[in-house]
Amino acid sequence: MTAVVSDGPPERSTEQRKADHLAITVSGAAAFHRPTLLEDVHLVHCALPELALDEVDLSARLLGRDLRAPVMLTGMTGGTEEASVINRDLAVAAERLGLPFGLGSMRAMLERPDLARTYAVRTAAPSVFLLANFGAIQLHAMTTEAVREACSRVGADALCVHLNSGQELAQPGGDRDFRGALAAIRRIVGDLGLPVLVKETGCGISPAVARALEAAGAGAIDVSGAGGTSFIAVEAQRATGAHASRGRELWDWGIPTAAAIGWLGDTKRAGRLAADLVASGGIRSGLDAARALALGAQIVGVAQPALRAVREGGLDGAVAFLQSIIDSLRAACLLAGCRRAADLASTPRVITGELRDWLAQRPA
Ligand code: FNR
Repeated sequence: MTAVVSDGPPERSTEQRKADHLAITVSGAAAFHRPTLLEDVHLVHCALPELALDEVDLSARLLGRDLRAPVMLTGMTGGTEEASVINRDLAVAAERLGLPFGLGSMRAMLERPDLARTYAVRTAAPSVFLLANFGAIQLHAMTTEAVREACSRVGADALCVHLNSGQELAQPGGDRDFRGALAAIRRIVGDLGLPVLVKETGCGISPAVARALEAAGAGAIDVSGAGGTSFIAVEAQRATGAHASRGRELWDWGIPTAAAIGWLGDTKRAGRLAADLVASGGIRSGLDAARALALGAQIVGVAQPALRAVREGGLDGAVAFLQSIIDSLRAACLLAGCRRAADLASTPRVITGELRDWLAQRPA
């Protein structure tokens, strides 16, 4: 897995790639064409909630940490001047609202240690629950000591490991050999001394993969399913020739977010999985969040819309966006008659359409 086989034109710098990712994702040009299927989850209305809106309890837990609401900002960026401002503003917004914040892949700071400053949010957000971020591919090539050093340099409370084979295959010069990822995760979890969350980057995580990750020591799994930002699409937009056409062909590849979280939620209910479950990939509203919690997620993750909010409105824009998700989640809890967001997992709901097929055909 350490060998990086380039079968396309040479990649421009990591810095340029990061800048492209921001511009392409924010423009909406890399959205999945297919939906998350969360729209197939219908919470049953409770006409007699017997609750006041402000007594709805949204508190949640992730990797042993108490959160004020079941919402996190998943990792996006780092390595450029713009990323530095985005990371700082999003981290401060998350701290104000008592939510976790994920840094983007820290590969850039391994290549150029001076770029560590673009991930340095700890001073601005001293108590935010902060997740460092590396790809499983980078971990495979790193010593545990180097990972520990990088995590401590940014003041991380936990490590997020991303899986992104779809994106790599769509990227000229991306990785082509994905062997050893699980062993790398097992080694790091065993030796690092920080809790570990493993996530996809838009293609979803199946029950078998989730169980393997848990057996390797992952304490939390973020399905990052299909329906929101497609990283294959991001690379398709940047590529030319054969890579561009392969990217267009695989644009919609992945397990829809609702199917992935429903599968893992059912696996957990059956006692075959214990990890904390995060639903991300196309979470765009508090109602989406409520539906994902009803399927079994403990918390939801948001990326692209938070990026757009912070780019357009800075710190205030990010806080307002996150607050709107929290407020509408609270409203959905009340309308479903749930005193606690955690009660959504056992509240009556109706599953329709394509999601019903996905849930009925859950693989082992
Ligand atoms: C991402 N994502 C991501 N994930 C990760 O683990 N490490 C990373 O470095 C990045 N980089 C990144 C850049 C940008 C600009 C975006 C928008 C996203 C993936 C992200 O965390 C999330 O899994 C997906 O984007 C799906 O969520 P949304 O965008 O549909 O809410």
